[in-house]
Amino acid sequence: MESSVHWEFLWLCILLVGNGVEGEASHQTCRSLRSFPGDQLYKTAYHFQPPKNWMNDPNGPMFYLGVYHLFYQYNPYGAEWGNMVWAHSISYDLVNWIHLDHAIYPTGPFDINGCWSGSTTILPGGKPVILYTGIDAKNHQVQNLAEPRNLTDPLLRERVKSPHNPLMTPGDDIDPKFYRDPATAWQGPDNIWHVIVGSQIKGQGAAILYRSKDFVNWTRSKHPLHSSANTNMLGCPDFYPLDTKSSEGKHVLKASFNSHDYYILGDYIARTDKFSVTTDFTSDLQYDYGKFYASKTFLDSSTKRRILWVWVKESDSESDDNSKGWSGLQSIPRNVVLGKTGRQLVQWPIKEIENLRTRNVSFQNKKLKIGSLLEVSGITGSQADVEVSFDLVNLKEAELMDPIWVDPQLLCSQKKASAQGKLGPFGFDQSRSSLREGLDKTTYGAFVDIDPLQENISLRSLIDHSIVESFGGGGRTCITARVYPKFAYDKEAHLYVFNNGTQTVRISRLNAWSMRNAQIVPVKTRREPKLHKR
Ligand SMILES: *[C@@H]1O[C@H](CO)[C@@H](O)[C@H](O)[C@H]1NC(C)=O
Ligand SMILES: *[C@@H]1O[C@H](CO)[C@@H](O)[C@H](O)[C@H]1NC(C)=O
Ligand SMILES: *[C@@H]1O[C@H](CO)[C@@H](O)[C@H](O)[C@H]1NC(C)=O
Ligand SMILES: *[C@@H]1O[C@H](CO)[C@@H](O)[C@H](O)[C@H]1NC(C)=O
Ligand SMILES: *[C@@H]1O[C@H](CO)[C@@H](O)[C@H](O)[C@H]1NC(C)=O
Repeated sequence: MESSVHWEFLWLCILLVGNGVEGEASHQTCRSLRSFPGDQLYKTAYHFQPPKNWMNDPNGPMFYLGVYHLFYQYNPYGAEWGNMVWAHSISYDLVNWIHLDHAIYPTGPFDINGCWSGSTTILPGGKPVILYTGIDAKNHQVQNLAEPRNLTDPLLRERVKSPHNPLMTPGDDIDPKFYRDPATAWQGPDNIWHVIVGSQIKGQGAAILYRSKDFVNWTRSKHPLHSSANTNMLGCPDFYPLDTKSSEGKHVLKASFNSHDYYILGDYIARTDKFSVTTDFTSDLQYDYGKFYASKTFLDSSTKRRILWVWVKESDSESDDNSKGWSGLQSIPRNVVLGKTGRQLVQWPIKEIENLRTRNVSFQNKKLKIGSLLEVSGITGSQADVEVSFDLVNLKEAELMDPIWVDPQLLCSQKKASAQGKLGPFGFDQSRSSLREGLDKTTYGAFVDIDPLQENISLRSLIDHSIVESFGGGGRTCITARVYPKFAYDKEAHLYVFNNGTQTVRISRLNAWSMRNAQIVPVKTRREPKLHKR
């Protein structure tokens, strides 16, 4: 190996606390790079990214005439937030994408200062319409409607904005800076449309509720669908039934605040617009405990799946983003279902992503002694899909959980993977993933709700250059992290399984695959819209 090659470690540790036992078992990826990374080194190979510039929230995802559509918040002029438009990409399989022209950009007094987040609703008969937040001439947030111009075009290349825009404006009690992100609307049994808009009223987060007979004339309901003292501005609300055939019953309400996406489960009755919950938003229920914000789901009508998209922000500095020329990407779409316990959601990468799997390695029943390190060779460590499960042979030896370990993130930050435990909290640590300065090196950690007597502890990780998405316990706990190794190059990326506990663990099964690149290509169909850079 050349002397200029430096080694760095990205590592994931499964640390689990539950049922009075504590233990530790981990897997690790490690890579080396020959030179300081340029723009391309951190670019992902199978995650969705625009060709350049800033992206944030996914907007209005939908399936229409055999085509998946993803819109997203985008700055046409740079790698920092600003000048927001809706960019537009389409796919036939949720893996390979074609970038089209921008879908929604400022055109009138109701959105002249920006086109912010919103959602698609499919009307009866199949017409997909979009509600989005416009920043008006007074810099107030208002809600607008846009409809496709040509319903026979599966690519939905053009839209017309409603002559009635804005359809919703903040009332006297609402600060016009806190009034945005309309969710997908739903129809009650009386055929009345319902929609929620995120806000903050008197310091409390609120999902403001509106009703309409015709989708144009909206009347605000007296009470929000939900308000919460635990949130400030209740950003990017998402509200959906867990039964895909009903608009009533058990529902999820998701809110984005404090840089995380939190959700609550409750029962919804459309006739009274009552959403009954037993708890408010808490840190216990999050889609993902890492870098993950402003997510949105849609119902894939072709497969009846509920699919979750999310913006994964960079963890590097703004000057790094400017020199890379881009910032932000999307998670691999995840299928969301209610877990068996009924207490939490479970997420899993859509199965289509497995079509990118290529060379593989696998083994079973390997003992990992104390302090051992086992290389998983033969695959591309920087672009991989890894599934591993551990059998805790010496579970009886595990320590009791210390009651002060209530915050798994804190625990993981303090203990890291070099602290000897047996089974510990589940976590991901990116603090050693880069030697570079100016990075957000938060250590993430979360509990996984499993009984290790009944099942082995499993972890799946999708590794793609600067992102690692991890799914613990079959998707019961998810952690996404960004990593920027300073010295690494693809062919020398290595993957290891390690055991830093004081007890032997057994890898019951490991399957790992190199991943092919997704095809994500631009197609220019007409001129860039004329925008005035602010
Ligand atoms: C509508 O879209 C279809 C399919 O792309 C196309 O054949 C047709 O010419 C379009 N109609 C108009 C009026 O643009
Ligand atoms: C809008 O709907 C409300 C409530 O149904 C109704 O009172 C009002 O007349 C409607 N306005 C228009 C312009 O249709
Ligand atoms: C691994 O690759 C071999 C071919 O090299 C294939 O036969 C096998 O099914 C693959 N295993 C998995 C788990 O994908
Ligand atoms: C395992 O523990 C050793 C000794 O504390 C430490 O040097 C090493 O970094 C740990 N491994 C990982 C992957 O953290
Ligand atoms: C755990 O994995 C082992 C193989 O190492 C297997 O024999 C055992 O059945 C698995 N245990 C559970 C509870 O699935």
